[in-house]
Amino acid sequence: MDIILMGAPGAGKGTQAARLKTALGYKHISTGDVLRSEIASGSELGKKVGAIIQKGDLVSDELMLSILKEVVSGVQEPIIFDGFPRTVPQAEMLNTMLASLGRELGKAVEISLPDEVVVVRLSSRKQCKLPSGEVKQIGPDFSLEDCAAQGGEVFTRKDDSAESIAHRLQVYHQQTEPVTAFYKQAGKFVAVNGDQHPDQVLNDLLNVLK
Ligand code: AP5
Ligand code: MG
Repeated sequence: MDIILMGAPGAGKGTQAARLKTALGYKHISTGDVLRSEIASGSELGKKVGAIIQKGDLVSDELMLSILKEVVSGVQEPIIFDGFPRTVPQAEMLNTMLASLGRELGKAVEISLPDEVVVVRLSSRKQCKLPSGEVKQIGPDFSLEDCAAQGGEVFTRKDDSAESIAHRLQVYHQQTEPVTAFYKQAGKFVAVNGDQHPDQVLNDLLNVLK
């Protein structure tokens, strides 16, 4: 069964999705990563969404769904959705899409984190672009030394500016938080505390996903 990882910007969705992928063999689909690779490729779609992401606004539901349909079709493994759905209409569209593909949604798990911790984490986040183009997060699983040793280049995400972080949090509270009620009503919602060591967060995730 597929799962959804929810949570504020910087809650640790990407970090934990990568760990769950290794631990449980899921396919990790991050809509943010998909959009960022479109921007990096210079495609028409990338040009359309670049400014939206940099500011911290959401890409339209229709566009997001059409991108996602393409990414999901043909996937055999169970999927971890990271950063999708972000609005109630996206949650409704996801239900329809999964049903049409004969897939089933298990749990929607929120990694909870207070806003003040989000701000600290995102203002200090660093990424590493490897010569292959792959982007790694600098953190407990990949250090600055690992980045240098593999010939990578350290950079900061454009939407990690102070203004964009504040705006992303506002958008999260206004547009994404209502999605939790949607999954509570469906009996699929669970939450774990994201303000702990990443190993403990993973442990809690594995427990609620049992
Ligand atoms: P997206 O890429 O999804 O960004 P986000 O939701 O803002 O979340 P982040 O990726 O910044 O954080 P994360 O939760 O993955 O945390 P991470 O593991 O990196 O989306 C970007 C943009 O794309 C959106 O703003 C929007 O414009 C657009 N978009 C995407 N999906 C969309 C959709 N469905 N609809 C419309 N628009 C969409 O961790 C953060 C930092 O904390 C790292 O430095 C990490 O090392 C550190 N860290 C992680 N865990 C811990 C821990 N336990 N303790 C200490 N540090 C930790
Ligand atoms: Mg992420």
